[in-house]
Amino acid sequence: MNLVNLVNIKELLRKAEKEHYAVPQFNVWNLEWISAVLDECQELQTPVILGVSQNGAKYMGGYYVVTQLIKAYIIKNNITIPVAIHLDHAATFETCKEAIDEGFTSVMIDASKMPLEENIATTKKVVDYAHSRGISVESELGRIGGKEDLVVAESCYAVKEECLQMVKETNIDCLAPALGSQHGIYKGKPKLGFKQMEEIHNLVGIPLVLHGGSGIPDDQIRRAISLGTAKINVNTDCLCAWVKILHEEIKNNPNEIDPRKLIGPGKQGIKDVIKNRCEVFGSIGKAN
Ligand code: 13P
Repeated sequence: MNLVNLVNIKELLRKAEKEHYAVPQFNVWNLEWISAVLDECQELQTPVILGVSQNGAKYMGGYYVVTQLIKAYIIKNNITIPVAIHLDHAATFETCKEAIDEGFTSVMIDASKMPLEENIATTKKVVDYAHSRGISVESELGRIGGKEDLVVAESCYAVKEECLQMVKETNIDCLAPALGSQHGIYKGKPKLGFKQMEEIHNLVGIPLVLHGGSGIPDDQIRRAISLGTAKINVNTDCLCAWVKILHEEIKNNPNEIDPRKLIGPGKQGIKDVIKNRCEVFGSIGKAN
């Protein structure tokens, strides 16, 4: 094993698809998040995908800072599980290229706002660049609703014929077909399009990705996994758990000024969500 076990997501997801579990993607925003996610996933022996949005990377000082921070943390804290650093929802080829050049091991090109032909052409350009460097690519069809970082969208279901065309013409490693899930907090109970999920998976034959993984009931998560979903993205659940603890700390310790004492305890909230989600995703103990 390398000193730093950074991987792309292709093999991780193929294994998960075959063994019927899902690899979690947890989005990270700063060092608190990186350490909470890596420490907990190491404890659980689950492979993990660290999701970083374009603006999340900018906040942390750019792609290079993000990759170096993660690598240094892995080396100095004996993290041995497979870890992928994945760019979440990049809208352009240039953004993907920059992240790849600065050490990301996987990218999501989300050109789903473009007409199909343009989406496919952009995705193909990203795949050609990424695959020649050993980097994996996810793309999206349809529109995942809600709010993710600065991306706001109305839901729109993926069309199965378009999914097949996308996979055939681009050779992507995994596909995120929008089928009713939403980023952020759901209004009402989520209702995923399982019939379409099954049809799309049978048709395209590559692992599917479920965005908006927070707030989806466990039975729906398990069903999605049984129908070929091998990567599930979770962000909002961790944010909510962290901020709840932060509010309590500030309320209970109004004179505290040490940032470690105010923001540090929230890490336990993130860890609790991770443990709970990985149990449902079936990824615990799958690090090898
Ligand atoms: P949630 O914030 O709804 O968990 O979605 C995360 C996500 O899909 C990241 O791409």
